[in-house]
Amino acid sequence: MSDIPTIESEALASIENAGDLAALDAVRVAELGKKGRVSGLMKTLGKMSPEERQEMGPKLNALKERVTAAIEARKAVLEDEALEAQVAAEKIDLTLPARPEPVGRLHPVMQVFEEIAAIFGDMGFAVAEGPDIEDDWHNFTALNFPEGHPARETHDTFFMAPDKEGAQKVLRTHTSPVQIRTMVEEAPPIRIIAPGRVYRNDWDATHTPMFHQVEGLVIEDGVHMGHLKGCLIDFVKAFFEIDEVEARFRPHFFPFTEPSAEMDVKCDRSGGQMKIGEGEDWMEILGCGMVHPNVLKNCGIDPDKHQGFAFGVGVDRLAMLKYGMPDLRPYFEADPAWTRHYGFRPWLTPSVSGGLS
Ligand code: DAH
Repeated sequence: MSDIPTIESEALASIENAGDLAALDAVRVAELGKKGRVSGLMKTLGKMSPEERQEMGPKLNALKERVTAAIEARKAVLEDEALEAQVAAEKIDLTLPARPEPVGRLHPVMQVFEEIAAIFGDMGFAVAEGPDIEDDWHNFTALNFPEGHPARETHDTFFMAPDKEGAQKVLRTHTSPVQIRTMVEEAPPIRIIAPGRVYRNDWDATHTPMFHQVEGLVIEDGVHMGHLKGCLIDFVKAFFEIDEVEARFRPHFFPFTEPSAEMDVKCDRSGGQMKIGEGEDWMEILGCGMVHPNVLKNCGIDPDKHQGFAFGVGVDRLAMLKYGMPDLRPYFEADPAWTRHYGFRPWLTPSVSGGLS
């Protein structure tokens, strides 16, 4: 059996030369398969005399083991190479710029929040926040709603379950409690807006149980109704992107302001379309007034030394007016077709200098 060394060196050479897993498998079949060379040698053992078999058995077994081991070793190398090639082919370059067409869209209400923040930010207002779940004192009492006052009932409040002391928190019915939180925490001068969600038990074509408001508060020496009017007229012009707007301030009642007013702007309702700043109709857009002395006192601010104004505006309706959305309900339906149509590109942050919409 002099060909054992020859077979071994030939087999090891072809194993070493196998360039890929398929070529290696062909070598395996040619040597160790049923009709392979090494297998052929193994079969000759059966025909040998016991003495020959004793001598040749270990040699042939050792040959088979070495060839098997060489194939396994080469296989491991080729598998590693194949994996590396696959990883290289599938590599994603994370430094590539984002695809040009952003898939998501910003909801119009979020867009309008950002536009409002940009306009008031330009006038020196900071953004303040408060919790959605409020206590009765911040939502009503500190805002000068006396206990049992009928104005409390008009808010259709959602009450939380009573705590151990029997006190019931509420889902805030307006963003006005953020005025209170700000005045309790900060000394004048104060100039903030507070955008956020508010809740009332009301559900029809023009009301949803959760909606959005932006509150405004200015406490500064010497401010009066004239500043309030100028500030809000500037806001309306900037928001609707119009040069002129005619506005009127109609006396109204809010417990937390005195005097209080509702602001109406001239609009045109003809042709089934609403245009702000033109026409002969009036449209109510927000509530406002001079901060009531009792509210200042409740927050530890001396009304003889400081005064200020406040306003509150419903954001959902402002968005409907500006972007011509006829119905409030799709706001909450998460229909991708609606969002694609009315939504905004997420990265184009509105700014007064760069453009709002
Ligand atoms: N909080 C009022 C509401 O939800 C809106 C409002 C009116 C806020 C007048 C104000 C204000 O700050 O001065 O109906």
